[in-house]
Amino acid sequence: MPGFEVLGIEERKAINKLFDEGGILFAHGFTNRRKKYHVREFERELAKKFNSKYSLPVSNGTSAIKIALKSLGVKPQDEVITQSFNFIATVEAIVDLGAKPIICDIDETLNMDIEDLKKKISRKTKAIIPVHMLGASCNMKEITRIAKKYKIPILEDNCEAVGGKYGTRFLGTLGDIGVMSFDFAKIITTGEGGAILTNKKKLYKYCKEYHDHGHQNNSKFPRGNDTSKIAGFNYRITELQGIIGKIQLKKLNFILSENKKRYQILDQNLSKYFKIRKIEKNSSQNFETYIIIEQDTKIRNQILKILSNYEYGTRNLPDAIKWHCSYYWKRAVGTEGVYNSKAANKLLKTCIAIPIWLSRTKSDYIKLSKKILDLKKK
Ligand SMILES: Cc1ncc(COP(=O)(O)O)c(C=O)c1O
Repeated sequence: MPGFEVLGIEERKAINKLFDEGGILFAHGFTNRRKKYHVREFERELAKKFNSKYSLPVSNGTSAIKIALKSLGVKPQDEVITQSFNFIATVEAIVDLGAKPIICDIDETLNMDIEDLKKKISRKTKAIIPVHMLGASCNMKEITRIAKKYKIPILEDNCEAVGGKYGTRFLGTLGDIGVMSFDFAKIITTGEGGAILTNKKKLYKYCKEYHDHGHQNNSKFPRGNDTSKIAGFNYRITELQGIIGKIQLKKLNFILSENKKRYQILDQNLSKYFKIRKIEKNSSQNFETYIIIEQDTKIRNQILKILSNYEYGTRNLPDAIKWHCSYYWKRAVGTEGVYNSKAANKLLKTCIAIPIWLSRTKSDYIKLSKKILDLKKK
């Protein structure tokens, strides 16, 4: 969440500079009018930061999922497995390609349930999309093992856990291809925006061409006479987003460490008294949300009241559950998808997701945990 909280003087200065350097141009061309290619630089810096061979900034996380699915060859009637706790974008991207979303249950990590994943695989399964929800990793070891066994590619939806890791690797780089979102509510932001990460040249090449009307950017020809092999679309970002993205990326380590301090305060104070979302053993979060699982409706409502009175709000649970649980998306997942989301809806309704705000100090989080603890002790 905090990307927008640290938008500041650096981004403003960079935008002014952009106007001196040629203005809000395409990410390509106009060589005589410009001094820099910011989107291309952002692309290289993303790849370097996340230790991925290739990266491609695109217009948003939703289009990133769609482009990545296309690169994996997903076609109408194919099945794509994803999880019930999610954001609707993932399912929309599947449906937009004419494919069928198959909804897999979640476990106490609030991410993909491994046993249910095994049950959901069929001969029609063309991809698996684990979604690292609210900053925390899925069980990538088991998901990778299963995917390998059945030779199904993995597309990691890492829109919500940018900066998180599984083992020593950044989330979004463990599967065949991964995506990130830089929309306004994400840990780093370009207003709207997203990116694709992959180590596979073939997938990168497809994504790069597809997101830019099929352009191959053939250096032998001017763009107006460029070569192409596939029919594409336009999912590019502008230099304006590219220049902001570069600065936000530099702020990521600071955001992660500040998030962690606030998260740990909540954890040290609350985890002895409340059931807390389970975190995968071998992973590190981006610490943007702290999730309590509370069965007692009365206590839950009292916590929500505190969060509302002190203007913390909640991070989608429970306030925006209808956009984050496939139980509510009959229009996209059909009756079967709703049925497969029943258990998740029951579990998610008991969750309270406390956002980590950088604009709130560490002592604010100490006070908040004390207020919440008082309820449990009463
Ligand atoms: C899990 C998940 N996937 C995909 C998206 C879509 O990203 P964007 O808003 O950049 O299109 C989001 C955004 O909230 C998300 O949370």
